[in-house]
Amino acid sequence: MANIAIFASGTGTNARKIIEYFKENANIHVALVVSNKATAAVLDIADEYQIPKMVAGRYSFYETKELLEALREKEIAFIVLAGFLWLIPDYLVQAYEKRIVNIHPALLPKYGGKGMYGMNVHRAVKDSGDELSGITIHYVNERYDEGDIVFQASCPVGPEDEPADIARKVQQLEHRHFAPVVEKLILELEEKPSSK
Ligand code: GAR
Repeated sequence: MANIAIFASGTGTNARKIIEYFKENANIHVALVVSNKATAAVLDIADEYQIPKMVAGRYSFYETKELLEALREKEIAFIVLAGFLWLIPDYLVQAYEKRIVNIHPALLPKYGGKGMYGMNVHRAVKDSGDELSGITIHYVNERYDEGDIVFQASCPVGPEDEPADIARKVQQLEHRHFAPVVEKLILELEEKPSSK
């Protein structure tokens, strides 16, 4: 059994999909939801599914090991960033090397980096005239959106598509692919246990 934690800052539609996907899973269990915002809707989703939740403020997140202790206490093996907007600090990246993935609503390496989230990304795609957008699932390192890419899927962008239309297409891809990709990565990890 692998316990996973979902980190999310916002509405949590991806978090909900992941929770639903693993609800009856014998091997993978969503054991914690972490947010940096006490008012984030994702915390209500955690309540709805009776999943323990935690709010980590900036000081606690960057200057203490409280979160790491909570993750260890819950025996979290894998962390999923589902719309989590803070940079992951070194201590967490090191403790969970190749065990943290993020989803980004564009085809990295384009349209990534600080400030590139949500509609900012879709507006940039629209302004560029690109004919494709999509999703990228990647491992997390100490820099925004730069870890190794593990999965991408694309969707067409037409001249008539507004940023909100692109957002809808991208969200459909996220909801379809994120949980199965997470499952595959975790099952692969379980097959080759860490040498540490
Ligand atoms: C998702 O589209 C995700 O790709 C994006 O935040 C959204 C969260 O939506 N993440 C980023 O932009 C990270 N740079 P949700 O709260 O509905 O799951």
